Amino acid sequence: MTTMSSTRKWNFSAGPGVLPESLIQQAQQDIWDLAGTGIGVMEHSHRGPAITEVFEAARNKCREVGNIPDDFEILFLQGGASLQFAMIPMAFLNSNSHADYINTGSWTSKAIDEARRFGNVDVLWDGASEKFSRIPTGEDYSWNEQSKYSYYCSNNTIYGTRWPQTPTSPTPLIADMSSEMFARAIDWESHDMVYAGAQKNLGPAGVTMVIIRRSLLEQASTDLPMMLRYDVFAKNGSMYNTPPVFAVYCVSLMFQWILDQGGLAGIEAMNEHKAGLIYRTIDESDGFYKGHAAKSDRSLMNITFRCPTEELEAAFIKEAAEHDMANLKGHRSVGGLRASVYNAFPEAGCHQLAQFMNEFARKNG
Ligand SMILES: Cc1ncc(COP(=O)(O)O)c(C=O)c1O
Repeated sequence: MTTMSSTRKWNFSAGPGVLPESLIQQAQQDIWDLAGTGIGVMEHSHRGPAITEVFEAARNKCREVGNIPDDFEILFLQGGASLQFAMIPMAFLNSNSHADYINTGSWTSKAIDEARRFGNVDVLWDGASEKFSRIPTGEDYSWNEQSKYSYYCSNNTIYGTRWPQTPTSPTPLIADMSSEMFARAIDWESHDMVYAGAQKNLGPAGVTMVIIRRSLLEQASTDLPMMLRYDVFAKNGSMYNTPPVFAVYCVSLMFQWILDQGGLAGIEAMNEHKAGLIYRTIDESDGFYKGHAAKSDRSLMNITFRCPTEELEAAFIKEAAEHDMANLKGHRSVGGLRASVYNAFPEAGCHQLAQFMNEFARKNG
């Protein structure tokens, strides 16, 4: 596991999130001179052999790390996850057709709003009245057989919930995995498309990973601007226009880093252990800390919790910062505290936070 150098803080940011130190060090070298070419990775033509190789490696390693079947295309897009909120309904929906959505938080709410611009949306379940503190079970909703697609968000960054199991749907299943892609294995039988803005668990901001089954890709509308067509990106190796080269280069290093940690099985075990250290501290605090998410639906990436008062939460954030622990404030829409512990977040930082939490509760409880 990566250790933290003395000048860097424990960064609990929800995104852009922490990157492995070995990745940053490699990038520092390659920004200066990529693989002995005498030209930095950000200065190469994207049409030249050096960057073609970077893209090939990124796709190959992505397929290897994610165990992605051959009938899925791996695309590198721009516009962030938010563009996917619109691009998906533009591609697959129209005013005569329906799509199913499950609303588990702010990001699915936004996706629903965007989809309504292009077609009919059935919200099968809405967690708003329960403050998005849980994920529905199979008994809470049922998919429509006639939908063009079914949509959910596998990990809810703001509320700290995640789907413990992949839902199964009779129509093509699409998942926003922005805050957890490659934190655990993906069930490719059940999904037809998954996507993620890279800046949380995969690399820097600037690239959006889209992994889409060819049979779904073939159904996407082609009556759209070129930059909004999945088929254009697939046909052009994600280089229809100038791609975000540096971001793709970084996610490729990240894929290799995950492989070096034992792949997704290794990473998932580490994530369970790391998040477990903090959840245990919450559960054993005699009610001083209260977790937001239902226990069965707790995210391993974004841990959301509260102190008894807002004043104590402000003191918590201030004192934690004095101990080099940064970005623990909850999202502005929900308040409280949030510790984001993505793949690259070191275990030692989780120990330090748990220790600090115990001490803070002892002093203020
Ligand atoms: C689950 C999820 N989806 C979508 C987004 C939006 O991502 P972007 O800023 O790349 O548009 C975020 C951002 O935090 C997110 O956490």
